[in-house]
Amino acid sequence: MIDAHEDRVGPIVTLDGPAGSGKSTTAREVARRLGFRHLDSGALYRALTLALLESGIAQEEWAEMDEHAMRALDVTVTPRGTELEVTVGGRRVGRELRSEEVTSRVAYLASLPAARACLLNLQRAAGAQGRLVADGRDMGSVVFPHADVKVYLVADLGERARRRLKDGGVEEPSGDDVESQSAVIARRDRHDSEREHSPLRKPEDAHLLDTTRLTFEDQVTAVIELVEGV
Ligand code: CDP
Repeated sequence: MIDAHEDRVGPIVTLDGPAGSGKSTTAREVARRLGFRHLDSGALYRALTLALLESGIAQEEWAEMDEHAMRALDVTVTPRGTELEVTVGGRRVGRELRSEEVTSRVAYLASLPAARACLLNLQRAAGAQGRLVADGRDMGSVVFPHADVKVYLVADLGERARRRLKDGGVEEPSGDDVESQSAVIARRDRHDSEREHSPLRKPEDAHLLDTTRLTFEDQVTAVIELVEGV
């Protein structure tokens, strides 16, 4: 399926960037304020990873699977009101997608072309009507190359690590906590940036937004202003 941008009735906004840059939370709030849907593409990669882990297929075998075998794992994304619901085998999934087990394997899964092909059509179908804010690594570069507004979020590594720790409930992270979390994030960034298929990269026509010193409200407002400016 191509990115059928001619048939859209509303805009598509893409937010790409490395782990912890604030993409998902910003995208969700921008979508809420604009009355658009939010596509968290990372959740789909995480759902496929969860499905593989639950099906007991050893990681060494993932690379042997073709697109058809990946599809058989039955990951779906379905509109429910203003939400896009992600399911695995018909079961709605949420918190379990962010487990350590999934997080440590998802970048490997996302480097496999069969996994990317399997999820590409799901993502484009979710955006077929427009009025969508999509966040991930390749939303503006590969999945929705004709998006109306593309944003690329960055933030200093230490700040991204601090945010991740706070999201996980660590109120005052120590220097050691920040250092070890930075190493974990940097490893995943490297994996995502250096892979052959759909690497993390700023699309040429994307607006660069450095969120290191921005408040959440500033981030949301900056993206909404870009959308209102088109
Ligand atoms: O929230 P966080 O930035 O930690 O990650 P995520 O958005 O949930 O994405 C998890 C992983 O999925 C990333 O590290 C990538 O390996 C992969 N991913 C991808 O390859 N392409 C996307 N469009 C979105 C996620």
